[in-house]
Amino acid sequence: MSSGDVIAVRLIAPAEASLLIGLIRRCYGETYIDPSFYDEPVVSELLASGRLHSIGAFTDAGQLVGHMGITARAYGGITADAGMTLVDPTFRGRGIARRVAGGLAQQSMALGLVGLHDYPVTVHAATQRIGAGFGVDTGLMLANMPGDVVFQEIETPAPGARTSSLIRWLPFGLAPERNVYLPERYRAQIQSLYAEAHLSRSALQSNEGLGELASELEQSYDERRQILRIAVARAGGDLAARVEAEIHDAAVRGALVAHVDLPLADPATPMATEAFRAQGFSFAGLLPEYREGDVLRLQWLADAVDETAFSVLSTDATQAIATLVLNDRRSMSG
Ligand SMILES: CC(C)(COP(=O)(O)OP(=O)(O)OC[C@H]1O[C@@H](n2cnc3c(N)ncnc32)[C@H](O)[C@@H]1OP(=O)(O)O)[C@@H](O)C(=O)NCCC(=O)NCCS
Repeated sequence: MSSGDVIAVRLIAPAEASLLIGLIRRCYGETYIDPSFYDEPVVSELLASGRLHSIGAFTDAGQLVGHMGITARAYGGITADAGMTLVDPTFRGRGIARRVAGGLAQQSMALGLVGLHDYPVTVHAATQRIGAGFGVDTGLMLANMPGDVVFQEIETPAPGARTSSLIRWLPFGLAPERNVYLPERYRAQIQSLYAEAHLSRSALQSNEGLGELASELEQSYDERRQILRIAVARAGGDLAARVEAEIHDAAVRGALVAHVDLPLADPATPMATEAFRAQGFSFAGLLPEYREGDVLRLQWLADAVDETAFSVLSTDATQAIATLVLNDRRSMSG
């Protein structure tokens, strides 16, 4: 960076979508995780509709050299997803990502969000370090990143292997107080995450079984990541069978990972958690205010997936949540 390059941090306009696509290409070539981000009308529409708020770092010559995004989710409400942290390879190591993170915080507050969910990769520690000390690491999604994503100009410990991503809660406001029903086996760890995140939660006791009615699931399959995602809207007695069938169908299409999201406001969640455990699911993380309240995410991995693949973890707190997740996974086979 020459001394003439003054960096300004501001929102990216819909008409500037091509600048974002250019930056993605400089950072990932053609391997970016979401292929729709190479499509200018799609990106422009995302920006125009407000489903994506892009915070950009610009040189005084108008070149986009840094970026972070805030992506709205259908059920997010008072939270959204952070991500798409990008800095042009020739501008790295100069604090640009940190400056964009400041813009991200400002924008989140302007949008009235009480927090963001961020998913720092573990291929390197850079994005973990940006939010460290501010955010709370609440989970680790094992092998959620395909091995063919190429991080340009970054040395990766095991090119070609699937890697894991953290779940990090970035608080920007006061979340509402909530009643939650915690599965007994995860009670202590979830309560300690609540304490760390200063979230006011009352844990209620539930003896509720799975309901008589059929389960209501929302599922989607992400071909690029080979991940089946299921959100449980209602847990019924058929839950285990339904999920087994979904996993079977997705495995035929190449699924290597499944995520199940359970609402902690639902008294049936403790029982549902045990049903999923019996099917090989283990703890992935806690997502505060993710979907009309807090969500417990469980994860399942196909036998072919190596869950321990080469995670670079930056702090003791990050290491602690990773150990917890891995121990829970390993305890299933014991
Ligand atoms: C990650 C990325 C955005 C960092 O951008 P940057 O402008 O170089 O970062 P900054 O200079 O603001 O540094 C932020 C922190 O990361 C650290 N860092 C930067 N590059 C690093 C690397 N390759 N490995 C480890 N730490 C790194 C810095 O030391 C700093 O931490 P510190 O203040 O505790 O020392 C950039 O490397 C990038 O675009 N990578 C490719 C895309 C990517 O991996 N995105 C993240 C997906 S979650």
